[in-house]
Amino acid sequence: MTETVEVTGRGYGKLIVFGEHAVVYGRPAVACSLSSGAVARLSFSDDPGWTVSHRSRPLSVDDRAKKAVSELLAVFDLRSDELRIHVDLSIPVGAGLGSSAAMATALARGAAELRNLDISSARKLVDRAVEASEAVFHGKPSGIDQRAASGQGFFSFRRGDDALHIEPLEVPDFRWVVARVAPSPPTSEMVASVAAMREEKRESLTSVFDDIGSIAERGAAALRQGRWSRVGELMNRNQVLLASLGVSSPALDRACEAARQAGALGAKLTGAGGGGCILAAAGNEHGVDEVLCEFGDVYSFVLPTAEHGH
Ligand code: PMV
Repeated sequence: MTETVEVTGRGYGKLIVFGEHAVVYGRPAVACSLSSGAVARLSFSDDPGWTVSHRSRPLSVDDRAKKAVSELLAVFDLRSDELRIHVDLSIPVGAGLGSSAAMATALARGAAELRNLDISSARKLVDRAVEASEAVFHGKPSGIDQRAASGQGFFSFRRGDDALHIEPLEVPDFRWVVARVAPSPPTSEMVASVAAMREEKRESLTSVFDDIGSIAERGAAALRQGRWSRVGELMNRNQVLLASLGVSSPALDRACEAARQAGALGAKLTGAGGGGCILAAAGNEHGVDEVLCEFGDVYSFVLPTAEHGH
């Protein structure tokens, strides 16, 4: 086998501002891609193998990730034992910031380039490959992470019966703060726990999902207009509804409350919950960052344009 040139693919992380979990059941949600996420480098090699790192520090690769990657590569008729692969993540893993979709998108885009596909076939296969990989991590993904991983600003997202409804949202720059409060259980577990609760209490969960969907719609309008107090108020209400689905935790609740006390206009968990991150609408209130440092790693993002971790 001859060594080939190395190709590079990129994928992006995301923040869900409104609507996680209800989005799995067809309700609208709002998210924003981050400007960083994952960079994958791939080449055909006689010395195959793959490594993953976070900001250049090596990460261990578990069986689930191995399965996800081999399913992803199979879409391109590729095998991991013929490739040298390295993925570097710039967002934390398993924190609700979309690291799995960012990694899958970076790898799939790299694989499409290795195969020299034309743009339209590449797009189709990348979509299919990321979907296959996300199914391993999420069980029943809504597709919102996958959409964000392709890289764009704010957008509203709804999964219809046979089509995705995606609308880009023009949102003024604003500073958001994310704190990683606790390790998070796998997204598939949290999605399954909501599904189990829905089996038992279908009517009340339908109304919770409807309320979350309506918050996401009103939140999209408030974001567009830069009405940050309104955005914050809707985030707080979204958090109460997420807690009623059993996906918050005492630590997440405490961190949200501390962020509000420090001046955030609103705060909620972001992603699948059970642990992971909270998102606070912080604006110029830098005391929010300080107070959240007591809970874990803090990241500050001016979205949709820039981001800084600290
Ligand atoms: O990937 P996470 O952990 O940010 O969760 C994604 C959001 C969920 O709504 C919980 C699942 C989904 O597929 O939309």
